[in-house]
Amino acid sequence: MEAAGWAPGKAILFGEHAVVYGRLAVAVPLRQVGTRAVITNSPTGESWVEAPDIGLSASFEDLAPGHPLRQVIEQTARISANRLPPFHLRVTSTIPVASGLGSGAAVSIAVIRALMMFLHIHLSDTVVADLAYEAEKIHHGTPSGIDNTVIAYQKPITFRKDAGVQVLDIPVPFHLLIASTGHPSSTKAAVSSVRELFQADAALATRLFDQIETISNQAVKLLKSGNPDGLGMLMDQNQQILRELGVSSPELESLIQAARAAGALGAKLSGAGRGGNMIALVRQTDNPVVAKALAAAGAADVFASKVE
Ligand code: PMV
Repeated sequence: MEAAGWAPGKAILFGEHAVVYGRLAVAVPLRQVGTRAVITNSPTGESWVEAPDIGLSASFEDLAPGHPLRQVIEQTARISANRLPPFHLRVTSTIPVASGLGSGAAVSIAVIRALMMFLHIHLSDTVVADLAYEAEKIHHGTPSGIDNTVIAYQKPITFRKDAGVQVLDIPVPFHLLIASTGHPSSTKAAVSSVRELFQADAALATRLFDQIETISNQAVKLLKSGNPDGLGMLMDQNQQILRELGVSSPELESLIQAARAAGALGAKLSGAGRGGNMIALVRQTDNPVVAKALAAAGAADVFASKVE
């Protein structure tokens, strides 16, 4: 049999980094990019995993015990009453790696969903998110859990580490442009740099995290009341604090400025920062002009997403 699973990318609208310290954050799925996992019965009797985008082609048995894919597969199989027969897994993705779009969590979740079909089991979105969280810990050390949660739910969410997730209704849709700096960035390294700041000056870091949380709360109110245009100013404010946290970069800044100058309502980095992607809030009619300005400012890739 052939079993397939799919998972989208994600963008953090508000609250990255502060979310690691228990503050509220807002995230949305990006369906324009995604990861697909296909599992078939192994023709040779040997279990095999293949992910051409990252140059992986290996016997399942040869994956190190701490490998995120191995962990996800073993833990999903463990909660199933059905035995996992020898399989062939192929993972392909259009989500760029290490760019703040949730590529790692999307791989885990696409694989879990394919395994659910392969093993004839149903798991809730919460259980899927929890399984993927274990792999996120291997990738990032101390993840907040927002990536695996928004990608498992495939809906806009608010997220707080110890209080969990709430699905966010978006009564008035809005448009984002997502632009890549073309520079991969390690989430683990960015999170560590913020931790160093926190350890060096806890009062400053706490003040910045609190300011981010205030912005996230204001954004949720605007979203719920159907006034997404007001998000632009909040994105600019959030970006200013991310700059102070030291996670912006010259490339991100020049894309953000280009988007603002071309008529975006607001713009900020999204995800860990120090590279990766930025997002801009745009009126649909301004999309082509802002996209062109982003490309002219050196964006390696630009795509549009409607959030609804
Ligand atoms: O760069 P990404 O997509 O892994 O986003 C990470 C978001 C952070 O808040 C920086 C880390 C986290 O675990 O929430």
